[in-house]
Amino acid sequence: MRKHSSGKERLMARNNSGYHFATWTTLIEESQIRALLKYNVKYYFAGGKPGIMPTEIFGRIMEDLGKEYQQNSKQALDDLNYGPTGGQPWFLKTLAKRMHDVRGIPIDPVDEWNNITITNGSQQALYALLDTIVNPGDVIITPSPSYLGFLVPAVKLGARVLIVPTDLDGIIPEYVDKAIQLSQNKFGKCPDMVYVVPDSDNPKGTTLPQKRRQALFDVCENENILIVEDSAYAEVQFNKTPPPIKTLDKENERVAYLGTTSKEAAVLRVGYSILPPNVKEQVEKDKGYLDLCTSTLVQRILDVYYREHIDEAMRQSIPRYKARAEAMAKAIDSSFPAGERTSPTGGFFIWWQSETPFDSSEFMKDFGIPNDIIYVPGGAFYPITGYKLINNGSDIEPSKPELNTMRLGFSYIPRGAISEGIERLGKLLSENL
Ligand SMILES: Cc1ncc(COP(=O)(O)O)c(C=O)c1O
Repeated sequence: MRKHSSGKERLMARNNSGYHFATWTTLIEESQIRALLKYNVKYYFAGGKPGIMPTEIFGRIMEDLGKEYQQNSKQALDDLNYGPTGGQPWFLKTLAKRMHDVRGIPIDPVDEWNNITITNGSQQALYALLDTIVNPGDVIITPSPSYLGFLVPAVKLGARVLIVPTDLDGIIPEYVDKAIQLSQNKFGKCPDMVYVVPDSDNPKGTTLPQKRRQALFDVCENENILIVEDSAYAEVQFNKTPPPIKTLDKENERVAYLGTTSKEAAVLRVGYSILPPNVKEQVEKDKGYLDLCTSTLVQRILDVYYREHIDEAMRQSIPRYKARAEAMAKAIDSSFPAGERTSPTGGFFIWWQSETPFDSSEFMKDFGIPNDIIYVPGGAFYPITGYKLINNGSDIEPSKPELNTMRLGFSYIPRGAISEGIERLGKLLSENL
């Protein structure tokens, strides 16, 4: 009699016979941030999770929408349906007005709202940008250290990542200039992109002064390089910041400006960008294959939020984030061993580098997690394979992660718990380094 195998047995047999996975799957590890999101600890200093959110407002918006849908089935059918890949016009108009009025971006909300593209988080925009620009062997420039959500996909797609020195004011434009020349000398090609987070960078929390924004724009303009301006933390600012680099790009041809609702509204997986038209066309083509479109229902919720509530919500949340940042800085200063920290004027992170060499990833496993503490070990913010400048920018060599660093997020837990957890971490560091 013929024996029928179960679905599970069939799957195991196929697995045993071996699938041929793509090469990147063995080169690239799970995202550190994704790995850390699963931990539920008392002192959470890891992912950039917003911890101050007007949840009752979102509750009310959803309640009102629910009632509307019960009375207006036509609207419900549209909102619960597929929509245009680049986003719903009514939401694009709302965002265009905000970017123009609040951030000073040169976009006409009446005539140019269609320059905006909606993505599933700005993470998708970063990925799609790399996916549409980078061929294996192409060169991109990033600060050192840099947001891993940009670095890892860049390496995955075969880019040569050239990391450029930063200081307490962010990326140093003179070194960007040198990196461009070195790319031409060593690799025979001009870089395709320079990536920056000008306002309260991830991971360092530094903010690029106006002079550097202008210098960076000029360098990229001269060399015909696309600037990716990731403005994830632009609205979570304790002080007034210099205008976005995008304001210098009057013709919308040099800067891909990326925003996200995640840090300033809620993590509803909606990013918004203004891209040069030829870049926008390709990014939206890519998105069409990645997910067809972003949820219309979610855009509807955010549309109400951005039209009616965001200003008041930011007025309330920003001083509280500032207090959390100050509590963290104070606790680091009073309890950490010798090292250097950044002083953010917004965003979610402080970066700390120890004077004594140590591996902050090992330290977290051995001392952090057993003591209910997690942060992101700094090594995650350097490319898995890449290049760095040496000898004052006259040469390059393969880059290595700086392991004696950590990114400490102050956004998620209350001020008192921050002081307590950071002091606990400081004591552990002082005792064991
Ligand atoms: C600098 C930066 N860019 C992009 C993102 C991605 O954000 P999202 O996909 O939630 O819009 C993050 C998230 O932490 C970030 O810190």
